[in-house]
Amino acid sequence: MKIQMVDLHNQYVKIKNEIDSNIQEVINNTQFIKGPQIKQFEEALAKELEVKHVIACANGTDALQIAMMALDLKPGDEIILPVFTYVATAEVIALLGLTPVMVDVDPNTFCIDVNLIASKISVRTKAIVPVHLFGQCANMDAIMEIANKHNLFVIEDTAQAIGALYRSERREARDEKESRVQNPESRQEIGEADGLLDAQGLDSRLSSLDSKTNNLDSPELLGTGGFWTLDSKSAGTIGHIGTTSFFPSKNLGCYGDGGALMTNDDELAKKIRMICNHGQSVQYVHDIIGVNSRLDSIQAAVLNAKLPHLKSYTAARNEAASWYDEMLSGHPNIIIPKRNPNSTHVFHQYTIRIQDKNASSQEPAARSLQRDQLRKLLSEKGIPSMVYYPIELHKQKAFEKYWDGVERFPVSEELVQTVLSLPMHTEMTREMVGYVCETLVGIMNDEL
Ligand SMILES: Cc1ncc(COP(=O)(O)O)c(C=O)c1O
Repeated sequence: MKIQMVDLHNQYVKIKNEIDSNIQEVINNTQFIKGPQIKQFEEALAKELEVKHVIACANGTDALQIAMMALDLKPGDEIILPVFTYVATAEVIALLGLTPVMVDVDPNTFCIDVNLIASKISVRTKAIVPVHLFGQCANMDAIMEIANKHNLFVIEDTAQAIGALYRSERREARDEKESRVQNPESRQEIGEADGLLDAQGLDSRLSSLDSKTNNLDSPELLGTGGFWTLDSKSAGTIGHIGTTSFFPSKNLGCYGDGGALMTNDDELAKKIRMICNHGQSVQYVHDIIGVNSRLDSIQAAVLNAKLPHLKSYTAARNEAASWYDEMLSGHPNIIIPKRNPNSTHVFHQYTIRIQDKNASSQEPAARSLQRDQLRKLLSEKGIPSMVYYPIELHKQKAFEKYWDGVERFPVSEELVQTVLSLPMHTEMTREMVGYVCETLVGIMNDEL
């Protein structure tokens, strides 16, 4: 059985006609830069994410840099970010002369540990960059609360989590409201999604829902991950600016490089658009320093064909994740990914942790040896796997000047030794997941 980490070919084959005709249209009209496809895509994505502005750019790394430029962050400003992430998040901070301040992550969600942020705030801190790693949101309630308290900007790195939904955490109010709903079936469903309304608000929302529809599966009301969209927000639309990547293997990937920024702030949107295009709003008039970072029309044409399928892609990833969960849970040496109860998961990655058999007696190096041996044996059976990420930011040579050599990041230090991302894409079948799990468990039981 052929198993791939990502299967873009078979995904393409299913929508070949849409993709081919969209690309052909760009070639026919030859507007390769700034074609009408860009605006069409920006508007469609803004509608999908329920955000006022989407500004497309050349890639997700540029999106982060442009966000920081738009917020006027200056050399010496400190930016808080997780220490366990893709390098791009930190790279642009350093590139702009800002100072990355690294924070350890939560062992369950792999996202920034919000309990550790406050102690990292100084008078120079200007922004927090949470990364919604592997497809689910960081704890945005706590992050926004800290940011508001200390007057900080929040830039959400949503490169891996497009389409994920976050619902606010006002559980007590929600529980109280739930108990007042008469219909027990709708009580559970609506309570799941409703974290923001006050009791009165819920009552009126419920009665309007009741009169509108008794069909709880109404697509109008279901979010990308199958959650209720009522009062939840899309990843990337909660902070001041959200950024994302359309790198081919991303959940919404184009056929080259691509990226975008999201914001609800009109002024910021205007500035971001100018920065993306050499700091100009009128041709050859440059009011601010910008960059050349545009999404090509051909890439926008691909994204226009794929965006209508994002919900079904997310559902397919969730289905594959649920098969993995079912087949791997309960194994004493495998920790399956845990879900943030306030976020849907779009499973950009399905990342397990390998616990060795004598965890407490093993040195970290021995643990990664075991994980790496597992990878090798899986590969011999035709199963690819990846280690996202093998080195924490503070241990990367490029970032050594930002680490005092003393501070420890124990969770991340453990994760780099134990994480393993398994094949995950929209074309996974139950048989494929079964083969991966059977082989993995067989190796774990017999050979490690
Ligand atoms: C978390 C995160 N941030 C930023 C990026 C950068 O995106 P791009 O490759 O489009 O520049 C990526 C891409 O892998 C990513 O995973």
